[in-house]
Amino acid sequence: MPIEPRPVLKLAKVQDMNIKEGATVLVRVDYNVPMKDGVVTDDTRIRESQKTVKYLLDKKCKVVLIAHFGRPKGKVEPKYSLKPVVPYVEKIMGVKVHFGEDCIGPSALSAIQGAGQSEIVLLENLRYHPEEEKNDDNFGKELAKNGEFFVQEAFGALHRAHASTSAVTKYLPGGIGFLVQKELEYLEKIMTNPQRPYVAVVGGAKVSDKIDVLYSLIDRVDAILVGGAMAYTFLAAQNTNIGKSLVEQDKIEEAKKIILKAFKNNVDFMLPSDHIAVKEVKEGAEKHVTQSMAIPDDMIAVDIGPRTEMVFSDKIKAAKTIFWNGPMGIFEMKDFVSGTKSVAYAIAEATKKGAITILGGGDTVSALKVSGIKPDEVSHCSTGGGASLEFVEGKILPGVQALNKN
Ligand code: 3PG
Repeated sequence: MPIEPRPVLKLAKVQDMNIKEGATVLVRVDYNVPMKDGVVTDDTRIRESQKTVKYLLDKKCKVVLIAHFGRPKGKVEPKYSLKPVVPYVEKIMGVKVHFGEDCIGPSALSAIQGAGQSEIVLLENLRYHPEEEKNDDNFGKELAKNGEFFVQEAFGALHRAHASTSAVTKYLPGGIGFLVQKELEYLEKIMTNPQRPYVAVVGGAKVSDKIDVLYSLIDRVDAILVGGAMAYTFLAAQNTNIGKSLVEQDKIEEAKKIILKAFKNNVDFMLPSDHIAVKEVKEGAEKHVTQSMAIPDDMIAVDIGPRTEMVFSDKIKAAKTIFWNGPMGIFEMKDFVSGTKSVAYAIAEATKKGAITILGGGDTVSALKVSGIKPDEVSHCSTGGGASLEFVEGKILPGVQALNKN
């Protein structure tokens, strides 16, 4: 079936924006990083913004960073402060980072005034203001007062139509940073004219989270390999016994429609043909390898089985384009990580052989880490979970649309 053509977007790139030397540049970043007791446990998103920030620092610009952190729902809550992120930004960017106690108004402006050329100011959590998530025009205008140019570098937040991704763009000349350029370039490769065979590996807990992405993939791919708990809803839809495994009863009809659409489109829709099943989900539980797709009545499936690992790996290794979103089992428990690892290894091998391999963010990137595969062993690991999924669903992300000049 022919894929509908995607709209052509015209986006200014930071390197083409004629940003003058010494300008004050407002950069929206996604520093919504995992943090435990004030310690950042994964600084990938900060490191990924480095190229744009350094580019601007080299131009002697004052770089004003705005970001959200967690979901404080429009209230000031100290546990959602961005202040603990300051030393990490300082270390990664190698320059002084000033902190503004608010992202708009006098305290933001005085922090910016206090910073020198080639220095950074990080402003406090945008989501302390309810106007941010409401995409309030006036709040966007206030944010715009913090700079002379606007650079969008928060790929992970582009699926949100918020003031810092949308309204602000009306008030400053704006464009996209190097990270957003890279993300869009890679993700576009799997949307338009992908090299074939194109295989998608989709896992995770719920079919309900992946309905739109599955429909979009069915229009584009040659095969979909389904793992994780969502596979049991599909198996239930085919009347296979799934024992006590997780199932979304209210999504069984939808699952049937997805299988039917895949069949009509000639897409190989592959479900696990065997499983690792246990009586109780805990480390050290006695593992049972099922002999077929069916799961015994008293058991819960927790991972794909060894035969499925082999079948999925072969399919992945023969592909030229691969998109992976979601683990194959309960990978957070080391006993049930094998299926997820086998997918990660096969994807790394396919990459070595020249395939384009793209991982949706969030859980998938954690799954890669757990498998011991490094991000540079695949073509691209997205920094955005929700954003990369919505992109693959075929949507034009609101944060991209806001900067589109076409
Ligand atoms: C993310 O972590 O996926 C992004 O920063 C978006 O965060 P949000 O889901 O709270 O909008």
